[in-house]
Amino acid sequence: MTSAHMTGVRAKSQAAAGAGALLEAVPFACAAYARKDGALVAANHRFLDAFSALPEHVRRDALLAALHTEVATEGAPPQEVHTPHSGRWYALHWGEAEHDGQALWLLTAVDIGERIEALDSRKSQQEKLLFTSRMMSVGEMAATLAHELNQPLAAIMNYLNGSLRLVGQAGGPAQVERALQAARTQAEHASAVIARVREFVRAREPKRSEQDVAVMAATVLELLRLEAERLQLRIDVLLAPSLPTVFADRVMIEQVLLNLVKNAIEAMREVPAARRELRIEGRVNLDDEIEVRVCDRGAGLSSEQQGQLFSPFFTTKNEGLGIGLAICRSIIEYHKGRLFFEPRDGGGSIFGFTLPRFGGAGARG
Ligand SMILES: Nc1ncnc2c1ncn2[C@@H]1O[C@H](COP(=O)(O)OP(=O)(O)OP(=O)(O)O)[C@@H](O)[C@H]1O
Ligand SMILES: [Mg+2]
Repeated sequence: MTSAHMTGVRAKSQAAAGAGALLEAVPFACAAYARKDGALVAANHRFLDAFSALPEHVRRDALLAALHTEVATEGAPPQEVHTPHSGRWYALHWGEAEHDGQALWLLTAVDIGERIEALDSRKSQQEKLLFTSRMMSVGEMAATLAHELNQPLAAIMNYLNGSLRLVGQAGGPAQVERALQAARTQAEHASAVIARVREFVRAREPKRSEQDVAVMAATVLELLRLEAERLQLRIDVLLAPSLPTVFADRVMIEQVLLNLVKNAIEAMREVPAARRELRIEGRVNLDDEIEVRVCDRGAGLSSEQQGQLFSPFFTTKNEGLGIGLAICRSIIEYHKGRLFFEPRDGGGSIFGFTLPRFGGAGARG
């Protein structure tokens, strides 16, 4: 078809044949259109290889429309277009010329596919770098904390175990024993988190496996039970029936949930008790990811606060460090998920995140 086309175009006139021979010498895809009616007069084989599959290439206006561009004046900056049939990228340059008394538009199409690909890969490399550096600073911070907290925590566990033994031998009182057990549960969790952080920083890789959102939510709510009771908080866990499992590091995701639920509880301290309602929702979203949302009835966030939300050290709390959400974001991004904020209908905030389904497309690599 290509050569038939070329002869067809060239056969129109001697002048066109001459122009075709000239264009053949140009090392880019090149074509000449008549200025009087926009019809294709001549083209080199590079042009026909690239564009003859587009029926529109025989008329200048039709070609421009097919490539979604309008600019075709001499001296205008080249238009970057991509061809609908082959998906390749070209920079279009237009010039004007006279050949054998015929006024022509000269089109040169330079293949810029490689440049576009290089740009894309540089962009994704930059994104990766940014992400890694964010991850590293949080990682370093976490490593220092883990190191400093490990010793006192081990001591706390020893004291608690010793006290539990003594209370057991003395046969009560039962409230003290329960309180000591609750304290030990908390300390064990803190140790597990620290052990996990140390391991993570060393290996720089989470240990992901099949996990159940319901189990992780229950673990976290158990850790925060006392605080929730003190605030007379209503807690609803609404997970879609037979919610699929996720591909995740259990302790890390529990950490995320813990941070979000803690923030939610803290946000509701100042609202009337009747309004204090915490809800954890779980469902499969349109992208076939698992989406978990922590919803509160706190005061919500101003748009200014929303902009700073995920920056490390942003806090509005006297006793806050402002790293809870930054850590959550690092962890969720590490799992190829997204952490997001939304205002809640009827007042309050929703902090949510997505995770890949276990066995799903996002769960590999
Ligand atoms: N559920 C929420 N409702 C309202 N504001 C919130 C909520 N969650 C977070 N915020 C705002 O975002 C800020 C940052 O939260 P983040 O968890 O990162 O830090 P923090 O809670 O202040 O301190 P910490 O490091 O102890 O978690 C909070 O200080 C608060 O202003
Ligand atoms: Mg917090």
